[in-house]
Amino acid sequence: MTDRILIFDFGSQFTQLIARRIREERVYSEIHAPTKSMDWVRDWKPSGIILSGGPASVYDDEVPLADPSLLELGIPILGICYGMQLLGTLAGSRVVGSGHSEYGRAELEIMEPDELFAGFEPGSRSTVWMSHGDQLECSPPGWRTLARTESSPVAAFRADDAPLYGVQFHPEVAHTVDGERMLSNFLFRVCGCAGDWTPGSMLEEQIEAVRRIAPQGGVICGLSGGVDSAVAAALVHRAIGDRLTCIFVDTGLLRKGERESVEAVFSDHFGFRLEVVDASRLFLERLSGISDPEEKRLRIGHAFIDVFEEAAGQCTDVRFLVQGTLYPDVIESTSTTGPSAKIKSHHNVGGLRPNLPFTLIEPLREMFKDEVRAVGRELGLPEAMIGRHPFPGPGLAIRILGEVTEERLAILREVDAIYLEEIRSAGLYDEIWQAFAVFLPIRSVGVMGDGRTYDNVVALRAVTSRDGMTADWFPFPPEVLAVMSNRISNEVPGVNRVVYDISSKPPATIEWE
Ligand code: XMP
Repeated sequence: MTDRILIFDFGSQFTQLIARRIREERVYSEIHAPTKSMDWVRDWKPSGIILSGGPASVYDDEVPLADPSLLELGIPILGICYGMQLLGTLAGSRVVGSGHSEYGRAELEIMEPDELFAGFEPGSRSTVWMSHGDQLECSPPGWRTLARTESSPVAAFRADDAPLYGVQFHPEVAHTVDGERMLSNFLFRVCGCAGDWTPGSMLEEQIEAVRRIAPQGGVICGLSGGVDSAVAAALVHRAIGDRLTCIFVDTGLLRKGERESVEAVFSDHFGFRLEVVDASRLFLERLSGISDPEEKRLRIGHAFIDVFEEAAGQCTDVRFLVQGTLYPDVIESTSTTGPSAKIKSHHNVGGLRPNLPFTLIEPLREMFKDEVRAVGRELGLPEAMIGRHPFPGPGLAIRILGEVTEERLAILREVDAIYLEEIRSAGLYDEIWQAFAVFLPIRSVGVMGDGRTYDNVVALRAVTSRDGMTADWFPFPPEVLAVMSNRISNEVPGVNRVVYDISSKPPATIEWE
């Protein structure tokens, strides 16, 4: 069996990052609640354990703790920040709230490199990232200090006679300049991991798991045109072939060519059983006269459920439903401390009723987004589908400010298609997190030929982002903007003005509604 690292989550906003960094080093890792029993830990057979950071103070009441016998398991441990303070406390040291605590960058002085800082000279310095007000007064008896900063006398320590380590800073964040080296020292030197895991190995495991969960009976999967549902469907199809039926609901709120590209990939290329339901009339009817963004989302969500369930009901002997749940969603719902960054409730549009009579298959529930992409590539999905920007469930309806009408949808689809075509031909698509056009419910005066026009305004938006939580507007070269604007106003009847959105998030959001 390959090596794996167990991460106990004490509620740090960086816990997921730890898991990702470890997987990037080609060592499999999973995040679990620290309430697991010692028997469970032994059975899980970790090559090493990481205790994450967390917002609590170890000396407060009702804070998440760890079983002291954790230190006796003979398994290497690295405590990070709160995790370090916990180790220190279990080993008999005192943690204090420091009056002059360090937040943000600090200069680490490595006193003794040991294994954790292998490759550093004694006395060498490195910039690290701190984010806690507490610290250890001194190393516990039988432990020794490996590094310090100006205001933390114990910034890293280890037990003399066991591979137990702690660091007061966060090696997993990019601001800790040598963090990657320190983590890899822990994985390879301390835990003895081989580093032979790849995201692709999750593919075979998941194919086996799908066969186990659904040995017989029909399986359905909703395709949205996005990466997650595409990879989930392709994986399940690899596992059980034609027992899978995919359902694609054309809401009429999709981008130009979306339905055709899903049909081309899944039906023509892969030969899946694909049911395409054209529900655009129904969605337009339900949206008629509605301008409020949240009301739009609600109605679209309900319409989607109605259409999907009806389509599912027409397939015979369906017992399983595939969902493209990713690891971050799983962690957020199982962490002891609850979700650290709540996803806005409106982002769950497209979710189905919880009491559906199907067993769920979630083949991506252990994967991060970049791993889903890697698995998608192994499954032979086209690059254009794997690398595509996120697209919201309610689609163009939340990119048309005000009422959604057929005419407005037609205009927006054309504008959006030209915009994306120009982004691709400028070679900029992959530098951007999301790019789209927005239809504004106002008219402005223009001049075309000899005549005055009074026509629609569209806004173009492009942002860079890591995760959609914050975003910066993308600085297109002016000549690219010029071509976009020219083409849009010349080729799309009804548009005489194009503006570019230069708002970051916060204070704006990525979508306009
Ligand atoms: P905002 O606009 O909140 O968007 O900055 C952040 C990310 O979420 C997407 N988004 C949605 N996705 N249903 C979805 O499935 C929604 O209602 C929704 N609203 C926003 C948005 O496209 C961006 O990626």
